[in-house]
Amino acid sequence: MLVNHGVPETLMKAVLDDCNEFFNLPMEEKMEFATKDIWKPIRFGTGVDIKVEKFFFWRDFLKVFAHPEFHFLSKPQGFSEIAQEYCKRCHEVSMELLKGISESLGFEESYIEKAMNLKSGFQLFAANLYPPCPQPELAMGIPAHTDHGLLTLLIENGIGGLQIQHNGKWFHVNPLPNSFLVNTADHLEILSNGRYKSIMHRAVVNNQSTRISIAIPNGPSLDTMVSPAPELVDNESRPAAYIPMKYKDYMDLQLDGKPCLERVRLPIA
Ligand code: OGA
Ligand code: NI
Repeated sequence: MLVNHGVPETLMKAVLDDCNEFFNLPMEEKMEFATKDIWKPIRFGTGVDIKVEKFFFWRDFLKVFAHPEFHFLSKPQGFSEIAQEYCKRCHEVSMELLKGISESLGFEESYIEKAMNLKSGFQLFAANLYPPCPQPELAMGIPAHTDHGLLTLLIENGIGGLQIQHNGKWFHVNPLPNSFLVNTADHLEILSNGRYKSIMHRAVVNNQSTRISIAIPNGPSLDTMVSPAPELVDNESRPAAYIPMKYKDYMDLQLDGKPCLERVRLPIA
């Protein structure tokens, strides 16, 4: 949970309000952006009624490519400008955090920025809508997963629903007002050769209030080959635990639904 991050409260509120307005648009207008193609820069999806094991996804989402090129929608009015400013501020915050993380791994502060080509890093704007659900115990907003990229910055409209897994148990996260929930993600685990773990998380739903969250995953540039940092690998004591892969190819692994990280993690003795 990150506080004192310098991103104005008014901006965080404005971007949540605009997401609410977007989700309130008539379904036909949103369905213009409906696609299964993860490489479309603007993508809307509705998960209500899609059966997944014994749960139903109970969420609509909007995903827009925000960096290195900023794409956006023209509706609702003003959304694009607010979202662009918000994404820029999130990029700055994650760069700052990654400086500290670089140092925590024993590197100079610009190590991750350089190694992951963050000047052209891939950033997504991902908004989620979780409507009230009459039988919340039978549904799941988003099932358990880890995020791709390095760090995800998440905010929400004060309703709660995010849970993180720790030692095999699920814990509810009650965010402090105006804080960012920062999730470590797959490429940080890979780059750090497992010193940082990609956090397993999910979102549960409730039968009272509509929840909106905005996740901003910040990752390497799409053409960066991500592998464990050579300095953190020792063939004797700490062998490389992940297969090197281009970020873009890693994203394509999402298509068949299995956890991507499991596909690049090596069994080490
Ligand atoms: C996500 C995500 C959790 C939430 O969008 O990847 O994990 O609380 N969202 O909405
Ligand atoms: Ni997530």
